[in-house]
This record gives sequence, structure tokens and C-alpha cells, in this order.
Amino acid sequence: MKYAILSDIHSNIEALKAVLSVIEATPVDKIVCLGDMVGYYTNPNECLEIIEDSGMVCVSGNHDRGAVGLKDINLFFRGAKRAMAWTQKQLSLKSALFLKTIPLIRTIDDLFLGVHSSLDPDPDTDFYIRSEEDTRLTFNALVQHPSRAKICFFGHTHHPVAYEYNQDTVHKIMETTVPLNPLCYYLINPGSVGQSRDKDARASFSIYDTALSTVSFYRVNYDRSVCLQKAKKVGIFYKEGMLSKKWKDTKIWAKEHCPAFYGGVRNIVRRYIPYQG
Ligand SMILES: [Fe+2]
Repeated sequence: MKYAILSDIHSNIEALKAVLSVIEATPVDKIVCLGDMVGYYTNPNECLEIIEDSGMVCVSGNHDRGAVGLKDINLFFRGAKRAMAWTQKQLSLKSALFLKTIPLIRTIDDLFLGVHSSLDPDPDTDFYIRSEEDTRLTFNALVQHPSRAKICFFGHTHHPVAYEYNQDTVHKIMETTVPLNPLCYYLINPGSVGQSRDKDARASFSIYDTALSTVSFYRVNYDRSVCLQKAKKVGIFYKEGMLSKKWKDTKIWAKEHCPAFYGGVRNIVRRYIPYQG
């Protein structure tokens, strides 16, 4: 079986179509979508129609729940909140009903798990897995999960990455193709289709090939100026990485001069005041 794993489409129809054209040429047996189908860009209904029509197996992201009132959009930071408020007004009844029925977590073909953020704290907390340290709780939950799955795909951070867990050791893998060791557990993020946040602006997704026992990461070119222009036109343009320079410099200074304090504060903030973006 070949599974295409997509995440964080964020109403970006140009990116979604570009990715789907590569997937059609591959082809795959099933497409899995790890949530955040809407938010940030301007084609929520069109994207949801494609997602439904193509029979994608979906889990719900924080933006999907925010768009239909299942999550308080006041928890979102300014740019995301503005796009959420706009998206709420645009959603058709069909789109809203679809978003409301999507679960937070799914076991796919008794083989692997799909979740938007993390397994622990519960997926509704929207905890970000950004480092080896952040994977611990989710790896513990995966090991104990009744499905006995050894792989969990997640999204939310918009950063493609794989983490391998074996005998209490976590190893971060940044290779284009990850060979899966049957003795290990894996947390794998395919990156974002619609809003890349690493240094590569192209759309990102993964293919899990069960016959080869590999997960491969793909990047796809598309004309980003189109979705950015449309977002500007309706007044929801959000420039990625908009944290102010002053705030970024403060973080860098604190990390360098008082790492223990910085780490402690960061962990508390991440766990109890999840930033929604
Ligand atoms: Fe997202």
C-alpha cells in the first residue's frame, strides 16, 4: 500500500492542486489529511470539496475546529484569528457540517495513527512537537496505544521531520527517505501543503510505502503569489514569521544567557498556554 500523507492545507487551493497532481502521477492507494484544512488563505469551500471528493481520510486540526466554533478563536494569535473570523463567514453549510464530523485522531488500516498535534496531552490541547524533547509524551502514548501501531503521523508545526524512538532514545531524522526499522516507533510530520514555515517555500507532503517500508518527503513548486494576492485582497494576508524582531532578539538573549530559566518558561508556556497558529 502507498499512502500520501498531507497536512496543513490551510485553504490554499493552488498548493493543494499542485500536490494532488504529483500524487495522481505517482499514484497512491489512499490519501490521509492531518488537519488544518482551512485557515490563512481564501479557498476553504473549494479545498474542502476536493478533500471530500477525493475520499481523503481526515483528522481535525485547531483551525478546522476554530472555523466551526469548536475552538475559541480568541486563543489564536492575531493573524490566524483574523483569517479564522473571515473563514467562519465564508464556510458553506456543507463545509461546516463536514468539518464538525472529523475526529481528532484516527487509526488508519490498523497500521498507523494520524493526529494533527500530539497524542499527549490530548489532541484537543494542540501541543506543538518541535523537538526530540517534545516527542516524549506522544511516544509514551504511542507505545501504549491499543492499536499497537508503531507509526504516528502528525502535523501542526508545518515542519517536515521524522523522529525515531528505540529503547528510550529519540533520534531526529531529516533525510528525504526514511527507512522504517520494525523495532522502532516513529513520529512523522509531512510538513505543510499550504503554508510552509521552513526555509523551503514549496508545498510539502510525504508518501508512506508499506511494501518498501519507507516514508519519503516531497516538495512541490506552485505559484505562491496567487494565494498571497488573494489573501491580501480580502484583508487576511499573514506574512509568515511575523514575530517582531524585538521579541525574537529577547528569546535569543534569554536562551543564551539563562538557558535553564528559558527552557522552564518555554515548557510551561507550551504546555499550558498553547499558541494557536
Ligand atoms: Fe496549521
